[in-house]
Amino acid sequence: MAGTGAPLLRLAGVRKEFPGVLAVREAALDVRAGEVHALVGENGAGKSTLIRIVTGAHEADGGTVELDGAPVRWSSPLAAAHAGIAAIYQELDLIPALSVRANLFLAREQARLGFIAAAEERRRAREALSRLGVDLDPGVRVGTLEVAQQQLVAIARALMEHPRLLVMDEPTAALASGEVERLFRVIRELRGQGIGVLLVSHRLDEVMAIADRVTVMRDGATLGTWPARDLTRERLVELMVGRPLDQEFPKVRATSGPEVLSVCNLSGGRVSDVSFSVRAGEVLGIAGLVGAGRTDLARLIFGADPPQRGQILLDGRPVVIRTPRDAIRHGICLLTEDRKAEGLVLGLSARDNFALPNLDRWSPWGWIRRRKELSAFERFVASLRIRLAGPGQPARDLSGGNQQKLLLARWLERDSRVLIFDEPTRGIDVGAKHEIYLLINELTARGKAVVMISSELPEVLGMSDRILVMHRGRVAGEIQEAAAATQEQVLEMAVG
Ligand SMILES: Nc1ncnc2c1ncn2[C@@H]1O[C@H](COP(=O)(O)OP(=O)(O)OP(=O)(O)O)[C@@H](O)[C@H]1O
Ligand SMILES: [Mg+2]
Repeated sequence: MAGTGAPLLRLAGVRKEFPGVLAVREAALDVRAGEVHALVGENGAGKSTLIRIVTGAHEADGGTVELDGAPVRWSSPLAAAHAGIAAIYQELDLIPALSVRANLFLAREQARLGFIAAAEERRRAREALSRLGVDLDPGVRVGTLEVAQQQLVAIARALMEHPRLLVMDEPTAALASGEVERLFRVIRELRGQGIGVLLVSHRLDEVMAIADRVTVMRDGATLGTWPARDLTRERLVELMVGRPLDQEFPKVRATSGPEVLSVCNLSGGRVSDVSFSVRAGEVLGIAGLVGAGRTDLARLIFGADPPQRGQILLDGRPVVIRTPRDAIRHGICLLTEDRKAEGLVLGLSARDNFALPNLDRWSPWGWIRRRKELSAFERFVASLRIRLAGPGQPARDLSGGNQQKLLLARWLERDSRVLIFDEPTRGIDVGAKHEIYLLINELTARGKAVVMISSELPEVLGMSDRILVMHRGRVAGEIQEAAAATQEQVLEMAVG
């Protein structure tokens, strides 16, 4: 058990280079049986790459990986799985066209042998999901689920493999606090059974709450490992970023102007009868549990889904929004929570992804456009500290957090009047979050109306002026003075 004999997993001198990018320069860490070991670091620090080496998805260029004191070299993720390593990746690897049940059993040998009857499979699928508190029909297609539910399916699948080492790359990024608590309960249970857990997360309060030890990574190298109880949140931030961060939520109140966007009795999808308005210069935070209908609401306003009822007003005048194109023409933009499915074109370069919706803004003469676009792009790369090999690097090869920053830059560049951000800082490191908050301040100072959907309560409380709390598709409450509110107050409304 913990602390005795060889660690379950030991990495030493691990190195991984992609063409033109040294993703992991020198990494060392060990995970003991029965411990939760957190791996933290800024976007692009090399965490996911390191994780993928552990799970056999990447091959290291140097260094050693040991399991139970014996060096291993995986030929494939399947080989690592056979050795008892289960993984949940940052970019979920579920198959959208297949059912939940098919996804849960896909990687499992037993299923292929056909020994388990369909009914038994269904039962075990339900059981695995209910352990995480998910009430889902295993027959539904994964592609129809929300990101959070997909995330929980991926976690359930990993748990079904009964691993000895569970590797999780930002498993809570898409979850709200209720789901996180349930997941943590399961993780603690696993720890009690002597399973080693390696966890990557940008949510530092969660890291402090669940981890026994923490390894910090910076610029492709591990700095060291500390017992979590010896660290404070401030110290951890300092280790990650390389400098102390004085104020986590640098909220500046802008003078609020007239109402820009009003939504009246809007219904559709999971949303029923929602009314609210946002003023120029104001940040309206929208809180709620997963499935409360926050994303559906954003999609209705943006014209991505058709409303059944209700009205949208801009500057007090009703507008008809049937498609996202209509919304964009009216100056409304949406940063989606699902960057892979709806945001980025993974095969295109970072720069072209940035330019996509902006193309009409620039002069039709190609080179002027390209030059302007490039300088705008470079400005954002610098201000958001987007880490990339060059403007031509395909979006696919950026780290998760840097993909998110790229999407954000795309919308910030447009001259929108209403910006709807669905989980704007998901997967983004503390330093860059800070930069994004400063950008939000800048937007409100310029009189933009901002709607910020977020599952991170400290962020909602720290950066909103007003807060709308949703529960089961309806407005469960409104908090007029976000600065004076508490997490408990919001949670109470969120659970109904
Ligand atoms: N397949 C790839 N080809 C080229 N470069 C890559 C590839 N995968 C990752 N990189 C680069 O390696 C570096 C480390 O990426 P990695 O995904 O490991 O970061 P991370 O620490 O997980 O970041 P995040 O917190 O944003 O998820 C980044 O600069 C990234 O662009
Ligand atoms: Mg990552």
